[in-house]
Amino acid sequence: MQVVHSIADLRAALRPFNSPAFVPTMGNLHAGHLALMQQATAHGDVRVASIFVNRLQFGPNEDFDAYPRTFARDCELLATAGCDVLFAPTEVDLYPQAQTFLVQPPAELADVLEGQFRPGFFTGVSTVVMKLFQCVFSGTKEMGFAFFGEKDFQQQLVIRHLVTQFALPVQIVTAPTVRDTDGLALSSRNGYLSETERAEAPRLQACLRDVALALKGPHAPNRQHLEDTALATLRTHGWQPDYISVRRQADLAPASDSDTALVILGAAKLGRTRLIDNLIVNL
Ligand code: PAJ
Repeated sequence: MQVVHSIADLRAALRPFNSPAFVPTMGNLHAGHLALMQQATAHGDVRVASIFVNRLQFGPNEDFDAYPRTFARDCELLATAGCDVLFAPTEVDLYPQAQTFLVQPPAELADVLEGQFRPGFFTGVSTVVMKLFQCVFSGTKEMGFAFFGEKDFQQQLVIRHLVTQFALPVQIVTAPTVRDTDGLALSSRNGYLSETERAEAPRLQACLRDVALALKGPHAPNRQHLEDTALATLRTHGWQPDYISVRRQADLAPASDSDTALVILGAAKLGRTRLIDNLIVNL
Protein backbone atom coordinates (compact mmCIF):
# COMPACT_ATOMS: atom_id res chain seq x y z
CA MET A 1 0.00 0.00 0.00
CA GLN A 2 1.32 3.41 -0.98
CA VAL A 3 0.78 6.19 1.59
CA VAL A 4 0.56 9.72 0.17
CA HIS A 5 0.00 13.01 1.96
CA SER A 6 -0.17 15.70 -0.73
CA ILE A 7 -2.88 16.11 -3.37
CA ALA A 8 -0.17 16.13 -6.07
CA ASP A 9 1.25 12.78 -4.89
CA LEU A 10 -2.24 11.29 -4.74
CA ARG A 11 -2.98 12.36 -8.33
CA ALA A 12 0.39 10.99 -9.48
CA ALA A 13 -0.31 7.66 -7.77
CA LEU A 14 -3.75 7.39 -9.41
CA ARG A 15 -2.70 8.56 -12.90
CA PRO A 16 -2.29 5.03 -14.36
CA PHE A 17 -5.80 4.02 -13.31
CA ASN A 18 -9.23 4.58 -14.84
CA SER A 19 -11.74 3.92 -12.09
CA PRO A 20 -10.87 4.40 -8.40
CA ALA A 21 -12.91 2.71 -5.66
CA PHE A 22 -12.70 5.13 -2.73
CA VAL A 23 -13.46 4.82 1.00
CA PRO A 24 -13.29 8.17 2.85
CA THR A 25 -12.78 7.91 6.62
CA MET A 26 -11.66 9.86 9.66
CA GLY A 27 -9.47 6.95 10.82
CA ASN A 28 -9.57 4.95 14.05
CA LEU A 29 -10.70 2.15 11.81
CA HIS A 30 -12.95 -0.73 12.87
CA ALA A 31 -14.72 -3.59 11.14
CA GLY A 32 -17.37 -1.18 9.77
CA HIS A 33 -14.74 0.76 7.82
CA LEU A 34 -13.06 -2.47 6.71
CA ALA A 35 -16.37 -3.81 5.38
CA LEU A 36 -16.50 -0.73 3.12
CA MET A 37 -12.92 -1.50 1.98
CA GLN A 38 -13.99 -5.09 1.34
CA GLN A 39 -16.78 -3.84 -0.93
CA ALA A 40 -14.31 -1.57 -2.69
CA THR A 41 -12.14 -4.54 -3.65
CA ALA A 42 -14.96 -5.71 -5.95
CA HIS A 43 -15.16 -2.36 -7.82
CA GLY A 44 -12.97 -0.24 -10.08
CA ASP A 45 -9.28 -0.80 -10.82
CA VAL A 46 -7.57 0.76 -7.77
CA ARG A 47 -8.57 0.82 -4.10
CA VAL A 48 -8.15 4.17 -2.33
CA ALA A 49 -8.87 5.14 1.28
CA SER A 50 -8.51 8.50 3.00
CA ILE A 51 -7.91 9.33 6.64
CA PHE A 52 -8.63 12.92 7.55
CA VAL A 53 -10.26 14.26 10.72
CA ASN A 54 -12.20 17.09 9.15
CA ARG A 55 -12.35 20.10 11.44
CA LEU A 56 -15.09 21.68 9.28
CA GLN A 57 -17.67 19.13 10.37
CA PHE A 58 -17.09 19.48 14.13
CA GLY A 59 -19.00 22.03 16.18
CA PRO A 60 -17.14 24.31 18.62
CA ASN A 61 -18.13 22.12 21.61
CA GLU A 62 -17.57 18.80 19.86
CA ASP A 63 -14.73 16.29 20.09
CA PHE A 64 -12.34 17.41 17.30
CA ASP A 65 -9.30 17.44 19.60
CA ALA A 66 -10.25 14.27 21.45
CA TYR A 67 -11.18 12.33 18.29
CA PRO A 68 -9.10 9.12 18.39
CA ARG A 69 -6.10 9.14 16.04
CA THR A 70 -4.52 5.70 15.53
CA PHE A 71 -2.65 6.14 12.25
CA ALA A 72 -0.08 3.31 12.47
CA ARG A 73 -2.70 0.69 13.30
CA ASP A 74 -5.08 2.07 10.63
CA CYS A 75 -2.31 1.66 8.01
CA GLU A 76 -1.82 -1.99 8.93
CA LEU A 77 -5.56 -2.69 8.80
CA LEU A 78 -6.00 -0.98 5.43
CA ALA A 79 -3.01 -2.74 3.88
CA THR A 80 -4.38 -6.11 5.02
CA ALA A 81 -7.86 -5.21 3.72
CA GLY A 82 -6.50 -4.68 0.19
CA CYS A 83 -6.13 -0.91 0.02
CA ASP A 84 -3.69 0.18 -2.72
CA VAL A 85 -3.34 3.91 -1.97
CA LEU A 86 -3.95 5.68 1.34
CA PHE A 87 -4.43 9.45 1.16
CA ALA A 88 -3.63 10.93 4.58
CA PRO A 89 -3.37 14.70 4.13
CA THR A 90 -2.51 17.10 6.93
CA GLU A 91 -4.84 20.08 7.36
CA VAL A 92 -2.35 22.18 5.39
CA ASP A 93 -2.26 19.59 2.58
CA LEU A 94 -6.05 19.55 2.20
CA TYR A 95 -6.85 23.12 3.19
CA PRO A 96 -3.75 25.16 2.20
CA GLN A 97 -6.00 28.22 2.28
CA ALA A 98 -8.79 28.54 4.80
CA GLN A 99 -11.66 26.63 3.15
CA THR A 100 -14.06 29.55 2.82
CA PHE A 101 -15.85 28.19 -0.26
CA LEU A 102 -18.36 25.76 1.23
CA VAL A 103 -20.77 23.24 -0.24
CA GLN A 104 -24.14 23.92 1.32
CA PRO A 105 -26.58 21.02 1.14
CA PRO A 106 -30.35 21.61 0.85
CA ALA A 107 -31.99 22.48 4.17
CA GLU A 108 -34.73 19.86 3.89
CA LEU A 109 -32.07 17.11 3.86
CA ALA A 110 -29.37 18.66 5.99
CA ASP A 111 -31.04 20.85 8.61
CA VAL A 112 -33.14 18.03 10.07
CA LEU A 113 -32.21 15.16 12.44
CA GLU A 114 -28.39 15.26 12.73
CA GLY A 115 -28.36 18.70 11.12
CA GLN A 116 -30.77 20.08 13.70
CA PHE A 117 -28.54 19.00 16.58
CA ARG A 118 -25.20 19.57 14.81
CA PRO A 119 -25.64 22.87 12.91
CA GLY A 120 -23.28 23.08 9.93
CA PHE A 121 -22.34 19.40 10.17
CA PHE A 122 -23.51 18.47 6.67
CA THR A 123 -21.96 21.59 5.15
CA GLY A 124 -18.64 20.43 6.66
CA VAL A 125 -19.16 16.88 5.41
CA SER A 126 -20.32 17.96 1.93
CA THR A 127 -17.40 20.35 1.55
CA VAL A 128 -14.74 17.81 2.51
CA VAL A 129 -16.31 15.03 0.45
CA MET A 130 -16.52 17.32 -2.59
CA LYS A 131 -12.85 18.20 -2.10
CA LEU A 132 -11.75 14.58 -1.53
CA PHE A 133 -13.69 13.56 -4.65
CA GLN A 134 -11.89 16.31 -6.65
CA CYS A 135 -8.58 14.90 -5.43
CA VAL A 136 -9.38 11.22 -6.05
CA PHE A 137 -11.57 11.34 -9.16
CA SER A 138 -10.13 14.27 -11.16
CA GLY A 139 -8.31 11.89 -13.53
CA THR A 140 -11.08 9.31 -13.66
CA LYS A 141 -11.70 8.15 -17.22
CA GLU A 142 -14.55 5.80 -16.38
CA MET A 143 -17.03 6.05 -13.53
CA GLY A 144 -15.44 5.88 -10.07
CA PHE A 145 -16.99 4.43 -6.92
CA ALA A 146 -17.27 5.73 -3.37
CA PHE A 147 -18.43 3.76 -0.33
CA PHE A 148 -20.47 4.98 2.60
CA GLY A 149 -21.97 3.21 5.62
CA GLU A 150 -25.70 2.89 6.22
CA LYS A 151 -24.85 3.65 9.88
CA ASP A 152 -24.75 7.31 8.82
CA PHE A 153 -27.94 7.09 6.79
CA GLN A 154 -28.49 10.83 6.45
CA GLN A 155 -24.86 11.36 5.41
CA GLN A 156 -25.02 8.86 2.53
CA LEU A 157 -28.28 10.46 1.35
CA VAL A 158 -26.77 13.97 1.38
CA ILE A 159 -23.74 12.65 -0.57
CA ARG A 160 -25.97 10.93 -3.13
CA HIS A 161 -27.71 14.26 -3.78
CA LEU A 162 -24.36 16.07 -3.96
CA VAL A 163 -23.11 13.62 -6.60
CA THR A 164 -26.31 13.88 -8.64
CA GLN A 165 -26.63 17.66 -8.53
CA PHE A 166 -22.96 18.30 -9.38
CA ALA A 167 -22.83 15.47 -11.97
CA LEU A 168 -19.75 13.97 -10.33
CA PRO A 169 -18.31 10.90 -12.12
CA VAL A 170 -18.88 8.71 -9.07
CA GLN A 171 -21.29 5.95 -8.19
CA ILE A 172 -22.17 5.86 -4.48
CA VAL A 173 -22.38 2.43 -2.87
CA THR A 174 -23.95 2.14 0.59
CA ALA A 175 -22.94 -0.81 2.81
CA PRO A 176 -24.89 -2.28 5.76
CA THR A 177 -24.05 -1.32 9.34
CA VAL A 178 -21.54 -3.60 11.06
CA ARG A 179 -22.51 -4.33 14.69
CA ASP A 180 -21.03 -5.93 17.77
CA THR A 181 -22.61 -9.21 18.87
CA ASP A 182 -24.92 -7.35 21.28
CA GLY A 183 -26.27 -5.12 18.49
CA LEU A 184 -24.26 -1.95 19.15
CA ALA A 185 -23.26 -0.34 15.86
CA LEU A 186 -19.46 -0.08 15.63
CA SER A 187 -18.27 3.51 15.93
CA SER A 188 -15.00 5.25 16.69
CA ARG A 189 -16.88 7.04 19.47
CA ASN A 190 -17.70 3.74 21.27
CA GLY A 191 -14.19 3.97 22.71
CA TYR A 192 -15.34 6.93 24.85
CA LEU A 193 -17.85 4.71 26.74
CA SER A 194 -17.16 3.51 30.30
CA GLU A 195 -17.72 -0.18 31.05
CA THR A 196 -21.22 0.46 32.42
CA GLU A 197 -22.11 2.74 29.52
CA ARG A 198 -20.85 0.13 27.05
CA ALA A 199 -23.20 -2.43 28.64
CA GLU A 200 -26.12 0.04 28.32
CA ALA A 201 -25.29 1.23 24.78
CA PRO A 202 -27.13 -1.52 22.78
CA ARG A 203 -30.41 -0.10 24.12
CA LEU A 204 -30.43 2.53 21.37
CA GLN A 205 -30.71 -0.15 18.66
CA ALA A 206 -33.12 -2.15 20.88
CA CYS A 207 -35.46 0.87 21.09
CA LEU A 208 -35.37 1.26 17.29
CA ARG A 209 -36.25 -2.44 17.00
CA ASP A 210 -39.21 -1.97 19.35
CA VAL A 211 -40.51 0.85 17.16
CA ALA A 212 -40.04 -1.33 14.06
CA LEU A 213 -41.88 -4.26 15.64
CA ALA A 214 -44.81 -2.04 16.60
CA LEU A 215 -44.92 -0.53 13.09
CA LYS A 216 -45.11 -4.03 11.63
CA GLY A 217 -47.72 -5.19 14.15
CA PRO A 218 -51.43 -5.59 13.36
CA HIS A 219 -52.51 -2.53 15.37
CA ALA A 220 -49.69 -0.18 14.46
CA PRO A 221 -50.07 2.74 16.88
CA ASN A 222 -49.55 6.37 16.03
CA ARG A 223 -45.92 7.00 14.97
CA GLN A 224 -45.53 9.99 17.24
CA HIS A 225 -46.60 7.82 20.17
CA LEU A 226 -43.97 5.18 19.27
CA GLU A 227 -41.26 7.83 19.07
CA ASP A 228 -42.31 9.28 22.44
CA THR A 229 -42.28 5.84 24.07
CA ALA A 230 -38.75 5.13 22.79
CA LEU A 231 -37.53 8.55 24.00
CA ALA A 232 -39.06 7.89 27.45
CA THR A 233 -37.41 4.44 27.65
CA LEU A 234 -34.01 5.94 26.88
CA ARG A 235 -34.48 8.71 29.46
CA THR A 236 -35.48 6.14 32.11
CA HIS A 237 -32.15 4.39 31.54
CA GLY A 238 -30.08 7.53 31.91
CA TRP A 239 -29.79 8.62 28.26
CA GLN A 240 -30.31 12.15 26.96
CA PRO A 241 -31.91 11.50 23.57
CA ASP A 242 -31.81 14.09 20.77
CA TYR A 243 -34.36 12.37 18.52
CA ILE A 244 -36.03 9.11 17.60
CA SER A 245 -37.84 9.60 14.33
CA VAL A 246 -39.68 7.52 11.75
CA ARG A 247 -38.86 8.92 8.30
CA ARG A 248 -39.19 8.06 4.63
CA GLN A 249 -36.06 6.35 3.27
CA ALA A 250 -36.12 8.35 0.03
CA ASP A 251 -35.97 11.89 1.39
CA LEU A 252 -36.11 11.72 5.23
CA ALA A 253 -39.48 13.50 5.26
CA PRO A 254 -41.61 12.55 8.29
CA ALA A 255 -43.43 9.30 7.46
CA SER A 256 -47.17 9.39 6.96
CA ASP A 257 -49.43 6.38 7.42
CA SER A 258 -49.34 5.56 3.69
CA ASP A 259 -45.50 5.41 3.49
CA THR A 260 -44.00 1.92 3.56
CA ALA A 261 -40.26 2.41 2.83
CA LEU A 262 -39.19 3.75 6.22
CA VAL A 263 -36.08 4.34 8.26
CA ILE A 264 -36.14 4.84 12.02
CA LEU A 265 -33.31 7.13 13.08
CA GLY A 266 -32.06 7.85 16.57
CA ALA A 267 -29.40 9.88 18.33
CA ALA A 268 -28.80 10.04 22.06
CA LYS A 269 -26.13 10.91 24.56
CA LEU A 270 -24.98 8.37 27.10
CA GLY A 271 -22.88 10.27 29.61
CA ARG A 272 -20.65 12.44 27.42
CA THR A 273 -20.79 10.16 24.38
CA ARG A 274 -23.26 10.85 21.58
CA LEU A 275 -24.33 7.74 19.66
CA ILE A 276 -26.41 7.48 16.50
CA ASP A 277 -28.07 4.52 14.84
CA ASN A 278 -30.92 3.67 12.50
CA LEU A 279 -33.03 0.79 11.29
CA ILE A 280 -34.51 0.32 7.82
CA VAL A 281 -38.10 -0.91 7.82
CA ASN A 282 -40.06 -1.95 4.76
CA LEU A 283 -43.70 -2.49 5.67
P1 PAJ B 1 -16.11 7.99 9.68
O1 PAJ B 1 -16.98 8.22 10.86
O2 PAJ B 1 -14.69 7.58 9.87
O3 PAJ B 1 -16.83 6.91 8.79
C1 PAJ B 1 -16.29 6.56 7.53
C2 PAJ B 1 -17.32 5.67 6.84
O4 PAJ B 1 -17.50 4.48 7.60
C3 PAJ B 1 -18.69 6.36 6.73
O5 PAJ B 1 -19.23 6.12 5.44
C4 PAJ B 1 -19.49 5.65 7.81
O6 PAJ B 1 -20.88 5.61 7.54
C5 PAJ B 1 -18.88 4.25 7.77
N1 PAJ B 1 -19.15 3.53 9.01
C6 PAJ B 1 -18.92 3.95 10.28
N2 PAJ B 1 -19.33 3.02 11.17
C7 PAJ B 1 -19.84 1.99 10.45
C8 PAJ B 1 -20.42 0.72 10.77
N3 PAJ B 1 -20.57 0.33 12.04
N4 PAJ B 1 -20.82 -0.09 9.76
C9 PAJ B 1 -20.67 0.30 8.47
N5 PAJ B 1 -20.11 1.48 8.08
C10 PAJ B 1 -19.71 2.30 9.06
O7 PAJ B 1 -18.27 9.41 8.17
C11 PAJ B 1 -17.18 9.95 8.25
O8 PAJ B 1 -16.06 9.33 8.78
C12 PAJ B 1 -16.92 11.36 7.75
O9 PAJ B 1 -18.09 12.12 7.89
C13 PAJ B 1 -16.42 11.41 6.28
C14 PAJ B 1 -17.45 10.85 5.30
C15 PAJ B 1 -15.09 10.65 6.13
C16 PAJ B 1 -16.16 12.90 5.88
O10 PAJ B 1 -15.26 13.49 6.75
